[in-house]
Amino acid sequence: MPGLIEELAQLRLMAERELAQADDPAALEAFRVSWLGRKAGRVTAVLRGLKDVPIEERAGIGDAANQLKANLTALFEARLAGTVGVSDDRPAGLDYSRPGLRPSTGRAHPITQTLDRILEILTGMGFTPVSGPEVETVENNFGALNIGPEHPSRQPGDTFFLTPDVLLRTHTSPVQVRAMRAQEPPIRICCPGRVYRREAVDATHLCEFHQVEILYVDRGVTMRDLKGCLSTFARLMFGADTRTRLRPSYFPFVEPGAEVDVTCFLCRGSGCRVCKGSGWIEILGAGMVHPRVLANVGYDPDVWTGYAAGMGVERITMLRHGVTDIRYFQENDLRFLEQF
Ligand code: DAH
Repeated sequence: MPGLIEELAQLRLMAERELAQADDPAALEAFRVSWLGRKAGRVTAVLRGLKDVPIEERAGIGDAANQLKANLTALFEARLAGTVGVSDDRPAGLDYSRPGLRPSTGRAHPITQTLDRILEILTGMGFTPVSGPEVETVENNFGALNIGPEHPSRQPGDTFFLTPDVLLRTHTSPVQVRAMRAQEPPIRICCPGRVYRREAVDATHLCEFHQVEILYVDRGVTMRDLKGCLSTFARLMFGADTRTRLRPSYFPFVEPGAEVDVTCFLCRGSGCRVCKGSGWIEILGAGMVHPRVLANVGYDPDVWTGYAAGMGVERITMLRHGVTDIRYFQENDLRFLEQF
């Protein structure tokens, strides 16, 4: 009985037209009674007539009739909500006096934002990003980097050992070892990644944080190249008037080694709370790759020299944004994250 289906479509058109014309509460009530009413409603009548429809067609027509009823009911309710008390011709169901809804958009975590910026600068300077595993061998994390068996960072109280020979890497420096073992010099890479230390967590320490390592090995690389690289990086990262200074320091995998300061980006060098009055802020460790490290990875230290540096991404992010507690980065409280 295709006729009934067509009849339902006709009914629908008629009902919609009537509903569109019903613009006061009395007309709407009349519509409800004549179409959806339990006694005399025309849609109800179709549903009631289903018992006369041949059994094999009953389901199809019943579905269509129920669908029509649901559609008309929804249209009716929307019309009722929009019409009652509203006398102009604005679309029904919209309250124009309500403030708009701000769509909520996602964004990169502040650590990711800093990391992205660091990598953008370093790749622009010719350093190719390379990654390595977070589960590392003791040999790559310590031995090949000339960190001797007596070094305090090798103690189980400082480092997460998985077995006596395998650990969660404590820095990104082992990625240099892997990269140099895998590739002949010259090499120019940067290595972003997550590192782990067995720390008591407080405002400046987490057990899990991020570093970026820099490595460049070639013929004739000197401390001047290191200083040029670092001061260029610092100006791009912290602003064109940023100055850089190297203070002699010790790391087993470089010789000479240095701690690197930049002029405070808050007070620009005059002294403030962030730089504790000194005008300078330490942002990374660096130095000339130790000849023993070069030899360990199979590079001839009489032919090749290079520099390396490592920086902490959380620390730089804290300094950039004036964040006073490193734990905020892990808590993922939206009130904190939405500020970036
Ligand atoms: N690996 C050091 C750390 O985790 C950081 C570092 C210092 C890396 C000096 C270097 C460097 O490449 O030359 O504290």
